[in-house]
Amino acid sequence: MFIYDTLMPINMLSSQEKELIPENWYNVVPDLPEQLPPPIDNEAERSSIELLNRILPKEVLRQEFTFQRYMKIPDDIREIYEQIGRPTPLVRARGLEQFLDYSGKIYFKYEGATVTGSHKINTAIPQAIYAAKEGVQKVVTETGAGQWGTATSVAASFAGIKAKIFMVRISYQQKPLRKKIMELYGGTVSPSPSDETRFGRNLLKDNPDHPGSLGIGIGEAVEYALDHDLRYLVGSVFNSVLTHQSIIGLETEKQLEIAGEEPDVLIGCVGGGSNFGGFSFPLIKKFKEVEVIASTAAEVPKFSHGEYKYDYVDTARILPSVKMYSLGADFVPEKIYAGGLRYHGAAPSLSMLVKTGRVATRDEDENHVIQALKIFSKTQGIVAAPESGHALASAIDYVRKHKHEKKTVVVNVSGHGLLDLSIFRDDK
Ligand SMILES: Cc1ncc(COP(=O)(O)O)c(C=O)c1O
Repeated sequence: MFIYDTLMPINMLSSQEKELIPENWYNVVPDLPEQLPPPIDNEAERSSIELLNRILPKEVLRQEFTFQRYMKIPDDIREIYEQIGRPTPLVRARGLEQFLDYSGKIYFKYEGATVTGSHKINTAIPQAIYAAKEGVQKVVTETGAGQWGTATSVAASFAGIKAKIFMVRISYQQKPLRKKIMELYGGTVSPSPSDETRFGRNLLKDNPDHPGSLGIGIGEAVEYALDHDLRYLVGSVFNSVLTHQSIIGLETEKQLEIAGEEPDVLIGCVGGGSNFGGFSFPLIKKFKEVEVIASTAAEVPKFSHGEYKYDYVDTARILPSVKMYSLGADFVPEKIYAGGLRYHGAAPSLSMLVKTGRVATRDEDENHVIQALKIFSKTQGIVAAPESGHALASAIDYVRKHKHEKKTVVVNVSGHGLLDLSIFRDDK
């Protein structure tokens, strides 16, 4: 079924490098300080929980609701992880340390080193493989800025099936290169709203130039999945997604051990919470005293201005409601370049750790982020994604405030920004 030969060596990794890829994913749910409040149905004519049963791959659904702490990564998925560039590097940021004249150490985990340039592929692969194993020929999802759609397209291609992506129409128009990449990987991309679903057609009837939104994209993708008996892939927020992303933190744990280091501070950015949870949860389990900082966009201040409550996962109110920090499903964020951070809520597990004070939070505004991205480019040679720039801005601030302390700061850089250079366009 799969288009690569599993008997061939995929990547010339040394045995030590191979061992860095964990054998199990880590699910934080059984280790949370309180029981995680379950998702609940929305007051709609059809049950949104029942809907999940119909559209998610069965194994993803099982992982979503399990209390199992460790879940074996199937061998075929581990091999694909090798093919896409795992383990990703953990780098000592000596250039940045020097620039900041820091007495301690800075490390960054670089998820931009995967083939699609971000962490999103870590979960797209298992989801697409599970769907293919169920016998479906196609998976469907939505994408805003394009990172998630790109990951889905390539993952489907590896699984030997097709991908259909509903891309928010305004992004589709503004980011033709993103569309090209998805097509190059074999995905079919439609601007959303589209004329391929009843939901889309109704919106286009009223406004043929409708710019679209993520909520509308989800609505179309779910309708399309139901009508064609396909599987729907989820990009963030869900427990199963954070579990798949735990590969980031588990690799980091082993890399730190080899370097003989223990982290004092962990920093990452938060959209729906998947790269942050994946990076930090395994390390929080291992290092009880570690300080943890979640960096969000000041323009989307879900932790500092949001409420911890049951709220809709998506604007279209199709998926179930979950208990999380939220600015409200109708919150319309400013058009910041970090498109992946323009989400009104944050994963329930992460929200609980923020609520109980285990994870601290910071808001970073875009100007500050641009400065941090420039410093990182000049000192480390890496153009990080605008989303990751938030983590870097928080890290640089932290180091400046604790300049004479010998702390070990570890930052997750969730992606590269080579397709997002327009963030620097108007900048002096
Ligand atoms: C590079 C990158 N970083 C971070 C995010 C934020 O998502 P999450 O919080 O789920 O990691 C995105 C989302 O698209 C992204 O593309």
